[in-house]
Amino acid sequence: MTTVEATPSGAAARNQGAPHIQTELPGPRARALIARDDAVASPSLTRAYPLVAESGSGCVVTDVDGNRFLDFAAGIAVCSTGHSHPKVVAAIKEQADRLIHIAATDFYEPRYLEFMERLAAIAPFKEKARVFLTNSGTEAVEGAIKLARYHTHRPGIIAFEGAFHGRTLGALSLTNSKIKQRAGFGPLIPMVHHAPFPRIRAWREGSGGDGSAELEVLRRSILGRIIAPSDVAAIVVEPIQGEGGYFPAPKAFMEGLRAICDEHGILLVADEIQSGMGRTGSWWAIEGMGVEPDILTTAKGIASGMPIGAFIARDSVWTWPPGAHGSTFAGNPVCAAAGLATLKIIESEGMSNAASMGARLRSGLERVAADVAAIRDVRGVGLMLGVEFDTHEAAEAVQDAAFQRGLLTLECGESSLRFSPPLIVDVASVDAAIRIFGEAVGAA
Ligand SMILES: Cc1ncc(COP(=O)(O)O)c(C=O)c1O
Repeated sequence: MTTVEATPSGAAARNQGAPHIQTELPGPRARALIARDDAVASPSLTRAYPLVAESGSGCVVTDVDGNRFLDFAAGIAVCSTGHSHPKVVAAIKEQADRLIHIAATDFYEPRYLEFMERLAAIAPFKEKARVFLTNSGTEAVEGAIKLARYHTHRPGIIAFEGAFHGRTLGALSLTNSKIKQRAGFGPLIPMVHHAPFPRIRAWREGSGGDGSAELEVLRRSILGRIIAPSDVAAIVVEPIQGEGGYFPAPKAFMEGLRAICDEHGILLVADEIQSGMGRTGSWWAIEGMGVEPDILTTAKGIASGMPIGAFIARDSVWTWPPGAHGSTFAGNPVCAAAGLATLKIIESEGMSNAASMGARLRSGLERVAADVAAIRDVRGVGLMLGVEFDTHEAAEAVQDAAFQRGLLTLECGESSLRFSPPLIVDVASVDAAIRIFGEAVGAA
């Protein structure tokens, strides 16, 4: 592999560049495993295409038949430092040898403490921050809902159309990116109302809205007619909608939400589970929007694939007493050690690389898209980029064609493909992904 620009160094950078497909896809071993999986797995799983992963290193995943794929899905924007980064693996092994579990709800433990300290240090608050570690994104959102209700003594929540906040019943009540995620699961928690989210497609047209029309609906119709602001505990928003289609919120929209919250004593919760942890070139997407939340949720890229998340809030929001909230596994020392190693890598190389490689990837995707009428938009920030097609079928066909050529992407929204590679991705991999994407679009 030759790299022509400054890119991440170290072992993780070794496994990047061109993929290699040596069998038909799925290959014979993959087909056999898929048949066994079909017989035992919950039918609710939605495998986008028949990838059966065996191992991973850097930006490359190798399947059970020995085919090598360039991974621009990164386990749904999770493997921020690439697959099995040696420093993360070493931290996990070292901690597993030392202590696997103690239950931080009931006992103290140094890795749990250090990870909270690091997260508090990078939290986007002027006030000192406190942290509650969780096992997942949805658990972080549950915690944020509970804390907001407890602190404000109010029941209501405002979320947004197209939002995804998780699948447990509280978070699911806020989620509405796809109807099949909600169908059959009611009643969900009451007094949750969904406001329109600005879905701006400015790439072809050259100008976008500022979200003022959507803010007006929230102010007049929802807070004016449906739920009194004095009944609302929190407005929960993804600064960049993820599963809903990779739509960044306009700065003015986020400022408007902050103003509504300030006016009515509502807490602003930024769900940065997908958009945070350096993916946009700064720790949090909301930092680029000049707005401070009261509570922030994080998970996904926080520990390179180990299951851990957090909700972080300004000190004065934590008014609940001992016993009000806890979790047996959450903040597990092995996950916390992986998180600490991950934060170091993101800080030293991932974040700046996300900005520069994001710009390179974006311009490459735009070059491909310029000649393709079926592509409606290219958008996003840093390495959180989406390409929207005119139909769901077109997005799916390109996703499949990319897979057949050795590039892993993932659909989001109604008809978009997301590109969320590891933050340590290098020039050769970005250029290979652009080339394969172009071929896949041509073929599909
Ligand atoms: C913005 C956002 N919030 C919450 C979640 C839920 O996270 P988890 O799947 O870890 O429960 C996701 C997952 O995609 C997400 O993108």
